[in-house]
Amino acid sequence: TQERTLVLIKPDAVARGYVGEILARIERKGLRLAALELKVAPNEVAQQHYAEHEGRPFYPSLLEFITSGPLVAAVVEGPRAVAAFRQLAGGTDPVEKAIPGTIRGDFGLETQENLVHGSDSVESAEREIALWFPAL
Ligand code: CMP
Repeated sequence: TQERTLVLIKPDAVARGYVGEILARIERKGLRLAALELKVAPNEVAQQHYAEHEGRPFYPSLLEFITSGPLVAAVVEGPRAVAAFRQLAGGTDPVEKAIPGTIRGDFGLETQENLVHGSDSVESAEREIALWFPAL
């Protein structure tokens, strides 16, 4: 049974030149790219994407960061794709939670600038895919 997840390669990862490395890890795992786009996130999309964090102390800074430059949005497909990509990404805090061998564990130092986003459930994935890829 196939599942879809929404992946963002965040502006820090694009600026540091990790797009190819991250896409390669996704493909090596056996997941499939179903949609792929490089763009600067419009404010409205960023706000809706992070709506659940509205009111948190880091929310304004998070919006500024995620809209600060081009990011890569992707729809990634495969069996248990949601959990599979979260395993590749590692925990949210690249130092305290993500272990070496994961994207964040290998390349990250900051909780905000943590290279990638992956949907946290199938329901979130469907909502986020509709937001980033309305044509899909
Ligand atoms: P992401 O998986 O995209 O989901 C929410 C994002 O908010 C998270 O990755 C981090 O980039 C950011 N974030 C979560 N917690 C914190 C925090 N305590 N301080 C700063 N940024 C955070």
